[in-house]
Amino acid sequence: MKTPEVGIVMGSESDLGVMETAANMLQQFEVPFELTIVSAHRTPQRLYDYAQTSRKRGLKVIIAGAGGAAHLPGMLAAITTLPVIGVPIKSSNSIDGWDSVLSILQMPAGVPVATVALNNAQNAALLSVQILATHNKDLAQKLDDYKRTLTQKVTESIERVQTNYSFPNHFDER
Ligand code: RP5
Repeated sequence: MKTPEVGIVMGSESDLGVMETAANMLQQFEVPFELTIVSAHRTPQRLYDYAQTSRKRGLKVIIAGAGGAAHLPGMLAAITTLPVIGVPIKSSNSIDGWDSVLSILQMPAGVPVATVALNNAQNAALLSVQILATHNKDLAQKLDDYKRTLTQKVTESIERVQTNYSFPNHFDER
């Protein structure tokens, strides 16, 4: 087993539905990762130990997802100097997701957390791959390939809309 380079953590098992999309994306890029639950409020010692040992254990980036009063990413960032990417999660008793977005986004100067969009664990994974790719040509190539697939999907949509609807499209006919 390869040493994990990305650590995915979440505040609760109820966050897994969102956070597993990050795991799936890292699997797609063949990036070694680990995934577990660390609750800032309910397992504070575990949070401290996770952050304290993260660099020594070989992690290069941490992705942390949490909902509500989402202190997990910020507290990890307070303890480790590894880059922390925060995923705000819209939990069941959420104030429309704003509680977790603002808790993760509004970090004080000096303690950054790179915050992605609500529930967007996929982007957290991609950002972690981009960080690793600054020193890894194979990963950089995979990111280029991935970007090409995004373009290709839109090209197919354009053709589908053009074929199935009779709306004028002067732009592509010029
Ligand atoms: C947060 O509270 C977790 O990250 C989760 O999003 C939310 C609800 O947790 P559970 O009550 O489902 O365990 O700490």
